[in-house]
Amino acid sequence: MAKLFAVIGNPIEQSRSPELHQAFAKKTGIELTYNKRFAELDAFETSVHDFFQNDGIGMNVTVPFKERAFSLCKQLTERAQIAKAVNTLWMQDGLLYGDNTDGQGLVEAIKALEWPLENSTILIIGAGGATRGVIYPLVHAGVKKIVISNRTIARAEQLVDDIQDAVPQAELLTCGLDQLEGQFDIIINATSASLSGDALILPVELTFKHAYEMAYGKPSSFIQQAQQRGVPCSEGYGMLIGQAIEAFSIWNGVRPNLKDFL
Ligand code: ATR
Repeated sequence: MAKLFAVIGNPIEQSRSPELHQAFAKKTGIELTYNKRFAELDAFETSVHDFFQNDGIGMNVTVPFKERAFSLCKQLTERAQIAKAVNTLWMQDGLLYGDNTDGQGLVEAIKALEWPLENSTILIIGAGGATRGVIYPLVHAGVKKIVISNRTIARAEQLVDDIQDAVPQAELLTCGLDQLEGQFDIIINATSASLSGDALILPVELTFKHAYEMAYGKPSSFIQQAQQRGVPCSEGYGMLIGQAIEAFSIWNGVRPNLKDFL
């Protein structure tokens, strides 16, 4: 019988996880079924429980349930503990395990672009859940300094307070959105500003060699400004594939090659 997987969210129609996992399965010769599962806001926990009771092997979790998935798990990977959010679930020895593969997905996407991470200096704009999830994997990929810039600076400071001890090998700094300056190897937009149509202003005092927009699918002023400077740019589709590959390899023990799916 084909192994059963699903992605759970609300809404869920937009999810591209089933097509990605089916493409990985085809490439690696694994037989699986991967469904979309809609959960009412008050029914997430029971829906997860039912899925694993009915022979489900692994589940991805998307908006708005990643923090609730984190609370539900009995065992967490270190990166999920730091992210305080879980996007990948499975059962082991009767316990629900949780991981967060989003940050490693970003690292894999950047590596596939051949942008250097070792000893690099990165600026991340935004201090929400998306930023929280990527710092630990970036540092473990060799990033030496990360500046976190946010509209609400107190939120960036809180995030650094929460995470710095877990990544002592890197320097984490903060600044306001109106204080963007300095030289960076990569700048990453982790805000939801482009989703709301708001523009982030990248001032001339800020210079960078590469620009990554975590959101995808909509033209973003962040990417437009980076393109005007002539630097290499990329959007979040690679990260989406990367997080899916990471989940697939946890569940199936086989790692598809990201470049085959870009
Ligand atoms: P996510 O889980 O996607 O990170 P989030 O936790 O709601 O979502 O965080 C959204 C991020 O986008 C925050 O850094 C937010 O800034 P604030 O902390 O100041 O709210 C940022 N953001 C959202 N809309 C923005 C805008 N119009 N301009 C600048 N930053 C914005």
